[in-house]
Amino acid sequence: MRHAMWRLISIHYGERVMVHRAVLGLIAFVMLSGCNTQQSAFHPGGPHADRVETLSWVMFIGGGLIFLLVIVLTAIAMFVAPERRQWMTNRRFIIWLGIVFPVVTLTALLVYGFTVARHLVTPGSPALRIEVVGEMWWWRVHYLDAQGTPRLVSANEIRIPTGRPIEFVLKTEDVIHSFWVPSLAGKLDMIPGRTNVYRFAADRPGIYRGQCAEYCGDQHALMAFYVVAMESNDFEAWYAAQIQPAAEPVVTQLIQGKELFLQNGCGACHVVRGTPANGALGPDLTHVGSRLSIAAGTYPTNVGTLAGWISSSQHLKPGNLMPSFGNLQGEELRAIAAYLESLK
Ligand code: CUA
Repeated sequence: MRHAMWRLISIHYGERVMVHRAVLGLIAFVMLSGCNTQQSAFHPGGPHADRVETLSWVMFIGGGLIFLLVIVLTAIAMFVAPERRQWMTNRRFIIWLGIVFPVVTLTALLVYGFTVARHLVTPGSPALRIEVVGEMWWWRVHYLDAQGTPRLVSANEIRIPTGRPIEFVLKTEDVIHSFWVPSLAGKLDMIPGRTNVYRFAADRPGIYRGQCAEYCGDQHALMAFYVVAMESNDFEAWYAAQIQPAAEPVVTQLIQGKELFLQNGCGACHVVRGTPANGALGPDLTHVGSRLSIAAGTYPTNVGTLAGWISSSQHLKPGNLMPSFGNLQGEELRAIAAYLESLK
């Protein structure tokens, strides 16, 4: 029988080696995912995520116990002598365990699930409203004022004050994306022609990683972002600095970088407030140097990654809308990258 089972598995996976690898891979995945606290539903950073975590555990443990019960009953049905498992054919046993139990369990789970979901979308008076627009493959971020007009534009990073629920207005420019910060809340889709709203709060300052959770094309896997939760005062200071136009460069290399940035037409797609660059197609770069990552969570922000991105964006993230500027010389690349990195 064991041999037959292996044969069966081999048909699915090719070779036994593959199965061993798959098992080892799975163990490694489970162990490694235990280390990640930045992007894990099992490390909730706020009250909304707490509820999602509880729901997850109820489902894992409940589902596990029910699975175990089914296995035990199957084993009894297969290996116990017929006269000793007469009780299994009892009509009452079948009605209670086969019909009543699943109906009651699934109904209870449905009601519980709806209660948790409702808590995530119930409107109220949020401390802050942030509109996030999914694009292929990055995130446009608008901090809205009381009237719902964008006050501050950013990209691929969302800063929020701690201890207060933040309302997220989720939209998309192109295809369906899904907004997901596992440590702070469940996921919610961004659907063309629709506006979805949900909210979450972060209890303590920290950096939480988010990821697009709906396949949206070639670079779906490289569509991540960071939520940075800050104490209220720090957030206010950050906001006041971000609302300012870009700093005017004073060092020769940075002045040169700014000139090259404008000469090469970067401003056709990017905004740098305070300069003639006013293209709205790509991410706003006014304070790009202050963000943790570029290319939607793909690389840390520094002169090297910025230069690499400008010259080879089509190698680093094929299919994205930005062409590779392979024509730029090393010196020029360094100047532009240094200028962008200086935009704190
Ligand atoms: Cu956007 Cu997947």
